[in-house]
This record gives sequence, structure tokens and C-alpha cells, in this order.
Amino acid sequence: MIRSIMRGIGSALPPRIMKNTDFEGMVETSDAWIVQRTGIRQRHIAADDETTASLGEAAARAALANAGMTPADIDLIVLATSTPNNTFPATAVDIQNRLGMHHGFAFDMQAVCSGFVYAVTTADAYIRGGLARRVLVIGSETFSRILDWNDRSTCVLFGDGAGALILEAAEGAGTIADRGVLAASLRSDGVHKEKLFVDGGPSTTGTVGQLRMEGREVFKHAVGMITDVIEATFAQADIGADDLDWFVPHQANKRIIDASAKKLGIAEEKVVVTVDLHGNTSAASVPLALSVAVADGRIKKGDLVLLEAMGGGFTWGAVLLRW
Ligand code: ACO
Repeated sequence: MIRSIMRGIGSALPPRIMKNTDFEGMVETSDAWIVQRTGIRQRHIAADDETTASLGEAAARAALANAGMTPADIDLIVLATSTPNNTFPATAVDIQNRLGMHHGFAFDMQAVCSGFVYAVTTADAYIRGGLARRVLVIGSETFSRILDWNDRSTCVLFGDGAGALILEAAEGAGTIADRGVLAASLRSDGVHKEKLFVDGGPSTTGTVGQLRMEGREVFKHAVGMITDVIEATFAQADIGADDLDWFVPHQANKRIIDASAKKLGIAEEKVVVTVDLHGNTSAASVPLALSVAVADGRIKKGDLVLLEAMGGGFTWGAVLLRW
């Protein structure tokens, strides 16, 4: 059977780092509060000339270099983002043009923080369905542009960045010993819309709007939703937590990550954590964490890796893959 195997990975972060102490004086907060409640110590913030498209392009170029490929080798770009450069066209098309790629096709995927997990699952379906052979999957965000910088309960949580992964069609035996995407489970439920949303849009206010979140409500649902969808993914592949080599969760809050891993019985040393360095970069958080763990040699060829995310909508999902 056809499998979507990982061929290259890359990332891009704006050079400007904002530490927790940089918020003191802007809003009523402290480094101690932010670290204790979230695990976040710093985040990267885009400069005026950095955008979702420019960060996505940089991450894409890094992934192509890592794979030893050029844009000519790619036939589809799927960009997960909630902070596009324009309402339309899709920022994926902008990135396609920036890469000098004038063949194939490109589109955006909007599932907020779950965007990358949705995009990998979509790319895998296109590859297995024979619609594409090599897909560039990107998560890129500039959440700094949609934050209310006077709201201490949200502005300290998010950061900017991008990560990219190249998937390629390859023949597999159809067992979980294969490399590539092995199982996936996606969920959404719009009943939770008001708990985490942006209060503007082209069809309502005609403005971009700002992020609004009932943090405690999101927290309350997060662990149950994450663990349910992971257990569904484990069941598809007929594996358990002990079989995993690495758990790469969405990086929103260290307490959510710890509680989810504990409930699932995933050992602490198998959990990749970058929320301290990047904050919550929404759709970029999983590929950023993946690229850190691949670059530092933790994730190696043949390792069994579980990706997971949960975000606005609510949307949530998990992907099991062998690197
Ligand atoms: N500094 C100091 N105090 C603060 C801050 C801050 N930055 N922010 C809020 N507080 C205060 C609150 O006002 C509140 O004060 P009060 O008791 O006087 O009213 C107190 O701290 C406690 O607030 P809670 O909201 O109960 O704090 P909690 O422990 O729940 O932590 C947090 C808040 C970090 C937002 C947490 O709820 C959380 O992480 N929620 C989940 C967020 C998340 O995971 N989102 C993921 C999806 S993101 C996406 O999809 C885009």
C-alpha cells in the first residue's frame, strides 16, 4: 500500500525574542505567574516586514534543503494557518509564488491550533488517493497580529513562527512497521465556538478582530479531548503508549501537556516540550517542536512518533507516524 513518508523538515522563527519580563509594565503580570501557569518563558515576535507568508517560505526552504529537494519536486502545498497574509488568495499560493513554483496546486487549511495535524492528515489522504506524490505541509502563524496586547489573560500566551514537513509517496507493507503516516483521528465540535475565537472577520465586522479566550473553559476540556482522540488513534494502529518513542503535543500549556501524558501513561522523557521557548504558535507549534527534536537527534529514522493538537472550534486530532 502507499504510505506518506517524511522526507524533510525545517522551521523559521523571527529573530526578535520577547521574554516574560518584557510584559511587566505593559500589563499586570509577572514572569513567575506565566511560568507557573503555562511553562512559557519566551516567545518570538514578527518584525513589521515578517509575515505568515515570509516565515512559511523560510520554513519551506529549510525543509526542501533538508530533503535535498527543490520546489520543482513538490506538487502540492498545504498551509495550516489562522493568520493569513490576506483574506484571499490563500497564503499557500503566495508561498508557492515566493518559491518560484508555477506548477501543481496550493491551498490553506484553517483549524486553528489543530491546523498542522489536519494538514498532515489531508496531505496523507491526497498522497494515498493518488492526487499528489510530494506534499509540502507548512504550519505558519503570526498570532502577535491578532492579540489584544492589553489583555493579560491572552497576550502572554502566544508567539510567531513556522515549521514545514515534506511528505512523499512510498510503497509500504501495510503494517505498523512501515515508515510514514500510520493512523490519524480528527474531531471538531462547533458548540464550543465562543470559548476561543477571533471577534472579527470579513463576513461579520469587516475587520480582522482580536483573539478572545475563556482560558479556564479551554483548559477544562483540553485533556479529555486530547486523550480521547489519541486513544482512538492507538486503537486504529493496535498499539499502546508503551510502543511510542516520542510524543510531540501541541505546545499551548505545560500543565495540559503533563496532564495528558500522565493520563495516557506516556513517560515524561518521551515528551517533546518547546512551549518554554516558543509559547503557543498555534498551527506552527507541532512542526516547530518536531523540527527541534529531529535537529537535536532525539527523533531518529524508524522512531514511532505521536502528534496531537487541540484548538479553537473546538478542533482536535492526533497523527501516528513512523519517522
Ligand atoms: N498574569 C497574572 N495574572 C493573570 C494573568 C497574567 N498574565 N492572566 C490571568 N490572570 C489572573 C486572572 O485574571 C485570574 O485572576 P482572578 O482570580 O482575580 O480573576 C487569575 O489569574 C486566575 O485566572 P485563570 O484563568 O483561572 O488561570 P488559569 O490557571 O486557568 O490559567 C491559562 C490561565 C494559562 C490561560 C489557562 O487557563 C490555560 O492555559 N488555558 C488553556 C489555553 C489553551 O490551551 N489554549 C489552547 C488552544 S489555543 C488555540 O487554539 C489558538
